[in-house]
Amino acid sequence: MITIRHSAGAYQVRFISVQNLAEHLPKDAFIVTDENVRAAWGARFPCPTLAVPPGEASKSVAMLERVCGWLAEEGATRSSTLVALGGGMVGDLAGFAAATYMRGIRYLQAPTSLLAQVDSSVGGKVAVDLPQGKNLVGAFYPPEEVAVCLETLTTLPERELKAGAAEVWKYGFIMDPTLLESLSNEPIKPDSPDLRAIVQRCVELKAEVVEEDEFETTGRRAILNFGHTVGHAIEAVTGYGPIKHGEAVAIGMVAEARIGELLGVTKPGTVADIQECMALQGLPTHCDALRDHEAIMAAMRKDKKKLSGDTLAFSFLISLGECKLVPNVQPSEVEAALKSL
Ligand code: GLY
Repeated sequence: MITIRHSAGAYQVRFISVQNLAEHLPKDAFIVTDENVRAAWGARFPCPTLAVPPGEASKSVAMLERVCGWLAEEGATRSSTLVALGGGMVGDLAGFAAATYMRGIRYLQAPTSLLAQVDSSVGGKVAVDLPQGKNLVGAFYPPEEVAVCLETLTTLPERELKAGAAEVWKYGFIMDPTLLESLSNEPIKPDSPDLRAIVQRCVELKAEVVEEDEFETTGRRAILNFGHTVGHAIEAVTGYGPIKHGEAVAIGMVAEARIGELLGVTKPGTVADIQECMALQGLPTHCDALRDHEAIMAAMRKDKKKLSGDTLAFSFLISLGECKLVPNVQPSEVEAALKSL
């Protein structure tokens, strides 16, 4: 069990079985999930359930209205608990619905994807997207608890598991050489004997960062963006679909290590090391969209969070296992690095 402290209290991340979770849900619980997770696990939960279509498109204001409307029709009150049973999209959508329905009701994160278990279910940021950009309508709204049921990974498609593994490697690259060493010996597989220890370690690392920077004001959280500045641009340029978030992050980590190497911040040879690790995990290290330098640069410029004035901010590796924030990177330097890949 890991405790995460925040300004209004604390919540715990617990590892439990689906059976245990289902048996111990509050009486007045309502589940929001996606259609795939409902098909695999929904029958285990005997409470009102709304399944939304899987995919980023469901993280919309229209779907938020649907979730809140459903809660109202089902008679959810201020003392109800909303359960976000699913991956990152469900956690964000249901979390933001919980933050706003009746001015805020309790909610519980029950992440079912590796990505959600190691990253998005922890930290308290919840949001939906606008056509103008991702996560533009949201809140800091910590859950009551995060219940990690590792068995849900057994029904996760292999590609999704690998995509989630990119975030696990990211934690190793930015903060934990020991985690990196264990992943290099044994990349993540659905039946990895060390899976629980790995998920737990990532949650501990995320907890350390978000406790230091709950509201994203000190800059500490920004170290988690390693691979994400280029990764988000790849997702935007390809229209959020063909390349999964974790795959875009894998490609982004290689690209950002390259930028860091060219700037003299990142130890030479790091790009090759990351490429090797990603290949070991079966993750991509390049994509066609990355060759469209103009589009990638335009997408990065549009991502206001990554901008400080006209320059870009990056979380760069110093070497494998340690990173630092570099706020004033010239777009021309980024473009030159992309061209060299
Ligand atoms: N929900 C993800 C975070 O707060 O970082």
